[in-house]
Amino acid sequence: MDLFIKNISRLYTPRVADSEDISRPVMDISDAAIFISQGRIEAVGTEKEIASLVPEKVPVLDAQQRVALPGFVDCHAHPVFAGERSHEFHKRNAGATYLQIAKEGGGIASSAQALKNASVEALVQETLPRLNRFLLSGTTTLEAKSGYGLEWEQERKQLAAIDELNKKHPIELIPTYLVHSIPASRKNDREAFIDEVCETMLPEVARNHLAQAVDIFCEEGVFSEEESRKILLRAKQLGFDIKLHANQFGHSGGARLAAELGAVSADHLEHLNDKEIDALIENKVTCVLLPACVFFLGDLPYPPARKLIERGARVAIATDMNPGSSMTESLPLAMTIAAIYCHMTPAELLWAATFDAARALKRETSIGSLEVGKEGNVTLWDIPHLRYLSYHFGNTFLTDAVISGQVVVANGQLSDES
Ligand code: NIG
Ligand code: FE
Repeated sequence: MDLFIKNISRLYTPRVADSEDISRPVMDISDAAIFISQGRIEAVGTEKEIASLVPEKVPVLDAQQRVALPGFVDCHAHPVFAGERSHEFHKRNAGATYLQIAKEGGGIASSAQALKNASVEALVQETLPRLNRFLLSGTTTLEAKSGYGLEWEQERKQLAAIDELNKKHPIELIPTYLVHSIPASRKNDREAFIDEVCETMLPEVARNHLAQAVDIFCEEGVFSEEESRKILLRAKQLGFDIKLHANQFGHSGGARLAAELGAVSADHLEHLNDKEIDALIENKVTCVLLPACVFFLGDLPYPPARKLIERGARVAIATDMNPGSSMTESLPLAMTIAAIYCHMTPAELLWAATFDAARALKRETSIGSLEVGKEGNVTLWDIPHLRYLSYHFGNTFLTDAVISGQVVVANGQLSDES
């Protein structure tokens, strides 16, 4: 699709001339415009500079003096699930912990049971409104993890739903195979289950190109460091990128393992010591922070974002959208929480929700900034400037969204195709 977006009051994007530049420079252009040709950015700059490059027949989107940002990249999410777990939320607020609820058969196991009872079509229908909410919050690329199936037949069903949603919805979904937990029926048989993951499930996912990355919940009581190493080594051997849910409830060994194996990302990281931080930085592992999850669980420390940033880590933030520990589709809300509790600046937040998030999905050459040659994923916001975005929270100020040059939200409304 071709599109000329003009009359932008301010355009902000990570300036990625040198992606190792840890100062996170932001390009800020007043009276800006963007020319998208065949879905990709052909020119970006002041309207004066680029208007003459645009052929007459190209459709025009008048930004009406709104702020333009790169489409957000939500690089850690579990958006495909059945049912909801509001009872657990209120149980936790009455004093129960996430791990206690999980031990009593709630948590992931209860979502697995609900998924088992749902058809692919039902999963798709339940998820579509969620994807609309992601889009209306500014997300144009979204990771979608499996991991509520647990057993292979059910995992495959969840992946089929992700594939179907990718065809039906304009947001680009990037599927990740998540080894989330041992199914209840295999609790006494964990070694055999892990062998099945390595020898049957992962090869099947690879053969059918059902996921780009493999993720594992490396945490005490879920998968140990050794078990995670075994599964991730096999995943690497099969050509997958690897990621970990690491160091959420304690020093699980997950962060160390992410560094050792050269994972694309280590996610959560609420418990990190200096040694773990240095190892993650040295091995260029993107640290994906999930502040909305910490907020929602209520009893965990926030990850040490300042320390990570000041020492030179790549830091992304994501929603972790899921029914148990982070029931929100809103990256702007996650940014507000990260501003307050992780003490991140507006420039750091922008990088974390765009370019560094793209790195966590290995998509940094095609998305995550408004630069020539990149995918034409642009959002428009009814805000005066960038620092306002995380400041005025709980509402959406998005007015328009463009994916690969196609207008998918106009004046706050989803276009027909969405
Ligand atoms: O990222 N920590 C593990 N997995 C999810 C939660 C899944 C659930 O509770 O349904 C997370 O927080
Ligand atoms: Fe998660």
